Amino acid sequence: MEYSKHGSIEKKLEKLYKQERKKLRPADGEVKEVKKPQGLPEDTMRKYFSQLVLALEYCHNELGIIHRDIKPDNLLIDENDNVKLADFGVSQLLPQDGNDKVKSNAGSAYFYSPEACIGTMYKGRLNDIWACGITLFYMATGNYAFQSSEHSKLYRLI
Ligand SMILES: Nc1ncnc2c1ncn2[C@@H]1O[C@H](COP(=O)(O)OP(=O)(O)O)[C@@H](O)[C@H]1O
Ligand SMILES: [Mg+2]
Repeated sequence: MEYSKHGSIEKKLEKLYKQERKKLRPADGEVKEVKKPQGLPEDTMRKYFSQLVLALEYCHNELGIIHRDIKPDNLLIDENDNVKLADFGVSQLLPQDGNDKVKSNAGSAYFYSPEACIGTMYKGRLNDIWACGITLFYMATGNYAFQSSEHSKLYRLI
């Protein structure tokens, strides 16, 4: 894969956040207000999300691959401001019969679906789609939809 000089969506959000904070920190160092992380502009978000959905649909239906680690850090922005789905490190090839049931969890826990948290067999494609929803929430707010540093609490929230 070629180099994506704008990095990932997560990096883009971090940059926006830093710019916002700088604006709130005048030269004399006085901090006027502590602001929460902000999301991306709505039209940017709409574009990135539809490109993510198209890329994932292609993986699922044309290539027979479940990604298993959909998150902003794995969505790269190329020089034309288009999304590239990256990091197939934990992805899986579907068997011929299309059965996408998986048991073991992969990727970041913030993006696990409820059925993945329960620990039973779950459908890999649906799990990827759930992770797209958490990614959209992150793009909109700069936060995870469910947040806790404790795994057991995070699973309960999800
Ligand atoms: N082709 C690329 N162009 C630009 N940055 C990249 C590229 N591939 C990876 N990166 C950067 O490196 C990070 C880690 O790469 P990734 O493939 O997600 O590996 P892993 O998460 O398994 O360490 C990405 O989040 C991204 O910031
Ligand atoms: Mg990665």
